[in-house]
Amino acid sequence: MRWNGRYDSSFGYVSAQGAPLVDLLDPRPGERILDLGCGTGVFSAEIAGRGAEVLGIDGSPAMIEKAIALHPGMTFIVGDGHDFTVADRYDAVFSNAALHWMGRDPMAVIASVRDALQPGGRFVAELGGAGNCAELIAAMLTAWREYGLREPELPWFFPTPAEYATLLEKGGFAVRLLEYFDRPTPLDDSPGGAADWVRVFGASLLAGLPTEIVEPLLRRVNELAAPALRRETGWMADYVRLRFAAVRR
Ligand code: BEZ
Repeated sequence: MRWNGRYDSSFGYVSAQGAPLVDLLDPRPGERILDLGCGTGVFSAEIAGRGAEVLGIDGSPAMIEKAIALHPGMTFIVGDGHDFTVADRYDAVFSNAALHWMGRDPMAVIASVRDALQPGGRFVAELGGAGNCAELIAAMLTAWREYGLREPELPWFFPTPAEYATLLEKGGFAVRLLEYFDRPTPLDDSPGGAADWVRVFGASLLAGLPTEIVEPLLRRVNELAAPALRRETGWMADYVRLRFAAVRR
């Protein structure tokens, strides 16, 4: 699914699916760009490499500590996407695989991004879209139920394209491009498959459980997820992406 305005023609940007998100951002030398949910700063550094001045913000102090260590000379600060403020306005806000962790109040996130941008500033981002990790989540919910556990409150927000476009428009943005597509993703860093993925990304859901059930529960997640997600070459996560470029009105 795809809506696009000027990006194809004026920005030389053709398709989301194979192209790097940074190409859609199209950072120019001297631009001021904020990387929201920067993690360890991989994309911040790439954007800075194209000549932009970058500020990376992340809610995790541990991530920011790593970003500072990995990218000396760059600026990274701890901040919550729901209510961060910046002293001077930016030309663009970029965000990769982070907005789906900011689901408590997505409108507040969009409002903070808007306040950080100058009029005409770009908001270019990718997040998990509706149906993201559906097989992983179904395996988790079934395993939780089989073990007599309360249904876990998932910490992610995976909106439909229509939902997110509406939020952006209500939040004062004009949507120029919106794409929604499957991106099956090898779990290269998770040799233990779906179980490892839950250990890393669903750590908060495991935190309150009796320790003795965690391993059998995760083994069951693997059994349930394997038919859909385990291939001969390894495990594959059923990621669905929502990618957009919007402009502050
Ligand atoms: C992702 O779609 O990138 C994702 C979703 C939930 C947890 C971790 C990653």
